[in-house]
Amino acid sequence: ADDAVRSRETMMFSHSPADDPSSLGRALPPSFVIGTATASAQIEGATTSGRRSPSVWDRFSAQPGRILDGSTTVVTADHYHRHAEDVGLMAELGADAYRFSLGWTRLQPGGSGRLDPEGVAFYDRLLDELHQAGIAPFVTISHWDVPEEYEQGWLSRDTAYRLGEFAGLVAERFGDRVGSWITINEPATVTLNGYALGLHAPGQALLFDAMPTVHHQLLGHGLAVQALRAAGVPGQIGITNVHTPVVPASDTEEDAMMAALFDVVHNRVFADPVLRGRYPQVPDELAPMFAAFAEVPADDLALISQPLDFYGLNYYMPSRVAAGAGSGESPDGMSEAMTELPFRLETFEEYPTTGFGWPIAPDCFGTALAEVQERYGDVLPPVYITENGASFPDELDPATGVVQDDARIDYLAGHLRAALDAVAPGGPAEGLDLRGLFVWSLLDNWEWAAGFTQRFGIVHVDFDTLERTPKASYRWLQDVLRARREV
Ligand code: NOJ
Repeated sequence: ADDAVRSRETMMFSHSPADDPSSLGRALPPSFVIGTATASAQIEGATTSGRRSPSVWDRFSAQPGRILDGSTTVVTADHYHRHAEDVGLMAELGADAYRFSLGWTRLQPGGSGRLDPEGVAFYDRLLDELHQAGIAPFVTISHWDVPEEYEQGWLSRDTAYRLGEFAGLVAERFGDRVGSWITINEPATVTLNGYALGLHAPGQALLFDAMPTVHHQLLGHGLAVQALRAAGVPGQIGITNVHTPVVPASDTEEDAMMAALFDVVHNRVFADPVLRGRYPQVPDELAPMFAAFAEVPADDLALISQPLDFYGLNYYMPSRVAAGAGSGESPDGMSEAMTELPFRLETFEEYPTTGFGWPIAPDCFGTALAEVQERYGDVLPPVYITENGASFPDELDPATGVVQDDARIDYLAGHLRAALDAVAPGGPAEGLDLRGLFVWSLLDNWEWAAGFTQRFGIVHVDFDTLERTPKASYRWLQDVLRARREV
């Protein structure tokens, strides 16, 4: 019977990828979850609605020169007022799941005390709509928008306890309707862009002195897991880390050492404690940079490495690292701090790039999964790709009303295929239990320091009228999902 199913599935995608890059060229497993993902600060807007208080991103985006196009969190995609339409778009897409984040300061104005009824009512409505549409919610508790009252932010251990407390409150309130919880999103990006380089909120450029933010975010994750378990939530619990496979720019020893350092600061310091219960070993030459981890209490590591029900992995691109400081320029803006680092990121000659200038390398998605499986395979819970996608300078043709984003279709098809191939029998990540993938993003949205200059959506948003228009990539994904249902 299995063979019959398989041959029918193969027929659904009978074009070979070489003929048609948008075809998956392989079957989408029937139980594989396909969803879209967003984050509160990037889509909701309505920053002064009810008792909502400012987050660090509200404050940061209001500072001159921080955001590439001078835009702010105030309106973004106005999802706060258009949630019903957006859920309708997901339903029509045929998506299985939706990953979104809870606006911390909408739910807990001022960052302490009980949840605000108006904030709660918004997420109640959203969860009800998703439930009615048969879409499974994957709820991120903290996607970067911490309350501005936490003066030291993630430099302070106290913020970890605040996250634990917030997780307990949302677990009590929404626990009965959430099938999957994600404690915290991409702590690596917060540490690197927010505290080491100053490109993201809160805009601190502390270089290696940003290291305490690694531990505090991970401790926050651990305390959130503890609070969710204590509340007895029936849903599965995980974390979202981003993984980039790192290659040295040359075969010199210096480049190899700096590539290893980047792999540690970007990947291993976030994954090892969660999955292995310890911070990574580093060569003696690098040890002084990681001195902060030497004194971490064993109890913290026990909290951080509590068993998870799934591991969320974001994949966008590989990184090519060379020894020696960078120029200070990045797609997210200028950072003087980069000129003081012992390494820099180099471009790849062999790959085309996205609107952000990120290399498009689906084969490296397989490498990422293989690395994760090789490093943690014996302890790794089931994995969801909690983000994958690309920004392109999409244009809506005023004559036809169409957004023909073929580059995004190729990106998404190529990456989905690469991931499924990697975990298939004989693939480089064989044994990794891959359960699903979330496209970043449902909507064009507010891309942090890049403001509205990078469009990641499968649905186009006109940021003047806020009108939504499904792009060609949305139609493509709709077809993929429809074909799977017909199997
Ligand atoms: C990761 C972040 O979680 C998300 O918020 C962001 O928009 C995407 N990457 C694209 O940069």
